[in-house]
Amino acid sequence: MTSICVVGLGYIGLPTAAVLARAGAEVIGVDVSERHVDAVNRGELPFAETGLDKVVADVVARGRLRAQTHTPPAEVYIVAVPTPFKRGTTGAHEADLSYIEAAARGIAPQLVGDELVVLESTSPPGTTELLAEMILGERPDLSLDGTCGRPVVHFAHCPERVLPGRIMAEIVGNSRIIGGLTSRAAELVRDLYATFCEGELRLTDARTAEMVKLTENAFRDVNIAFANELSIVAEKLGIDVWELIELANLHPRVSILRPGPGVGGHCIAVDPWFIVSAAPDETRVIRAARGVNDSKPLHVIECVREAVAGLESPTIAALGLTFKADVDDLRESPALSITRDLGSQLPDAEVLVAEPNIAEPPAALSGLPHVAFVDYREAIARADVVVLLVDHKEFKDLDRTLLAGKRIVDTRGAWR
Ligand SMILES: NC(=O)c1ccc[n+]([C@@H]2O[C@H](COP(=O)([O-])OP(=O)(O)OC[C@H]3O[C@@H](n4cnc5c(N)ncnc54)[C@H](O)[C@@H]3O)[C@@H](O)[C@H]2O)c1
Repeated sequence: MTSICVVGLGYIGLPTAAVLARAGAEVIGVDVSERHVDAVNRGELPFAETGLDKVVADVVARGRLRAQTHTPPAEVYIVAVPTPFKRGTTGAHEADLSYIEAAARGIAPQLVGDELVVLESTSPPGTTELLAEMILGERPDLSLDGTCGRPVVHFAHCPERVLPGRIMAEIVGNSRIIGGLTSRAAELVRDLYATFCEGELRLTDARTAEMVKLTENAFRDVNIAFANELSIVAEKLGIDVWELIELANLHPRVSILRPGPGVGGHCIAVDPWFIVSAAPDETRVIRAARGVNDSKPLHVIECVREAVAGLESPTIAALGLTFKADVDDLRESPALSITRDLGSQLPDAEVLVAEPNIAEPPAALSGLPHVAFVDYREAIARADVVVLLVDHKEFKDLDRTLLAGKRIVDTRGAWR
């Protein structure tokens, strides 16, 4: 039984820990959050993810997975801590690697040699090398390649590609890119991940693997920016953008994505910046796409201003706060920033916020006197203007007669 320590028990780390434990490993999850640790040890989830609850309950009950706040000795370490961005000196956002540094400080004292350290966090090119330098800097008695007879530690990057809401299916079914600092490290990761992953396992070097993940998300960001720009152009020209895209996509080699209120989440809205900050002078398209997507919320606010024009004390229903449909994740959510700005920029309006996936109003909306968190049916019934920000199933399946007589701003094309 391989002993595995998964550092970071969030949306990525906990499912990874759970599927490894289900495949027969002895897994210890480590998290700085007592809330996450206590939830896992009760066999419960600290966040919502379809199908994860049963697996966690099962592997915890069988003693295969437990959680704690300090890093234990283990044969394998999988690092799945956050990599958010921070404002950089080049005008681009740079990756905040402090969480990875903290994880490295926890792992280094536990090593004796022959361990495998896998970085799963989405990272700028060169981060796996940096992780190795940080750990071997603390432990000069160990090495990457056995130099001077020093015991070897194997390092690799294996980025995660799962879609929130479908993580349990995709973590098993998706193909994986495995980039080793040495080819031996990549092979060790392949053998371990083959215990739960049914997708193709492709080996490369660590820098390429890091860049593959960033490239995937930059590709999507650029293509969403195209759709978002098109939506503003179509609006100006009096054309229905949804019909436009549907018809253009009948071309056998055209596949335009869907516009929306902006781009959110911890991946697509963040990762392209890691390419921009690595090559600031060579990334005109990627940087421009970020700008287009980041400015789309301002356009939505303008649309709402037009919709309330002529109403003395308008009531606005803002439907959805999360960064995408049918999840409870608010990170980088354009829906949340639009709702907050409506609450602060339209003092004569009452903003009724509805988010069926969240029980409590988020802190970002506190202190706004004209903003209330209510059930979506109440929000719609009382509203003059209904703004659809997230296409949750409750909203898509809505009885459309409830919208009769309302002014509608549908940022997702869900009610066409
Ligand atoms: N969520 C996704 O869909 C997704 C998809 C692909 C890649 N990723 C990447 O995976 C990484 C993790 O993302 P996530 O969504 O799981 O984040 P998350 O915030 O849900 O989870 C990270 C966890 O790490 C814990 N943590 C922070 N510092 C720690 C430390 N020093 N030691 C132990 N635990 C620590 C946090 O408390 C948190 O529970 C990020 O790099 C992200 O970009 C996420």
